[in-house]
Amino acid sequence: MDLEYSSLLLDELREVAISAAREAAVLAADGRREGVVVAGTKSSATDIVTEMDRRVEALLVDRILTARPDDGMLGEEGASHVGSNGVRWVLDPIDGTVNYLYGIPSWGVSVAAEIDGVGVVGVVAAPMLGETFVAVRGRGAHKHDQWGVHELRVNDPVELTGSLVGTGYGYTQERRIAQARVTSALLPYVGDLRRLGSCSIDLCYVAEGRFDAYYERGVHLWDYAAAALVVTEAGGVFGGLNGRGPSEDLVIAAGPNLYRGLHDVLRDNGADTDG
Ligand code: IPD
Repeated sequence: MDLEYSSLLLDELREVAISAAREAAVLAADGRREGVVVAGTKSSATDIVTEMDRRVEALLVDRILTARPDDGMLGEEGASHVGSNGVRWVLDPIDGTVNYLYGIPSWGVSVAAEIDGVGVVGVVAAPMLGETFVAVRGRGAHKHDQWGVHELRVNDPVELTGSLVGTGYGYTQERRIAQARVTSALLPYVGDLRRLGSCSIDLCYVAEGRFDAYYERGVHLWDYAAAALVVTEAGGVFGGLNGRGPSEDLVIAAGPNLYRGLHDVLRDNGADTDG
């Protein structure tokens, strides 16, 4: 069977993703009201993981594998499971963990489904914003909120000089020195910059037109897998530098017109290196 073209399969993956992401988002939001426990650190002392990151990932894995036991799994908090049918789920239980810790609303549960390595479904549930972003390959990107379902479209055309660009910073001093240099080179040439603290939500903001563009060095597949599809299904471009695809080196998202201009400034300033 050609999994990529099975409409019924896409329907099923979409429903599983929405249902799991929403249940996980409720668990995380409810849990936060009872207090946040920092369970450990990763790349530096400020790169934290909470008990809730682990509980939410466990819930996502349970719900998805209960519905689809033959699928594979990759999760930020360690979920790793080789499937047998070409479908793999990429999970970030809480993207924006520092925001979650501090009570800043910009955090979300990110759930992506791939078939043979190609993203086909992306869901980002942001419970404190009351918004769920959903994309299905070939079927567009939509935001679900209390007012209904809204089709998403990136801003295009936009000139670099007037653009609102989201970005983010890594957790090590070496990385941040390099990122500060790129920020100081870019800032004079854009309308303004934003650092909201959740890669997946920043990308959904590009899809919706709340941002014109976003770039960041050092984000992982689980941070952007779901939201990348939201961007491209909303007419945006999602990539890396010099024709390379998105990677931990750098991701860039923007409308087609802005992408090239932003790309060139980032390239000229070595935004994909720590040098
Ligand atoms: C982080 C967020 C943040 C970005 C960091 C990511 P996490 O993800 O997406 O915006 O700047 O690079 O690590 O750790 O909260 O899932």
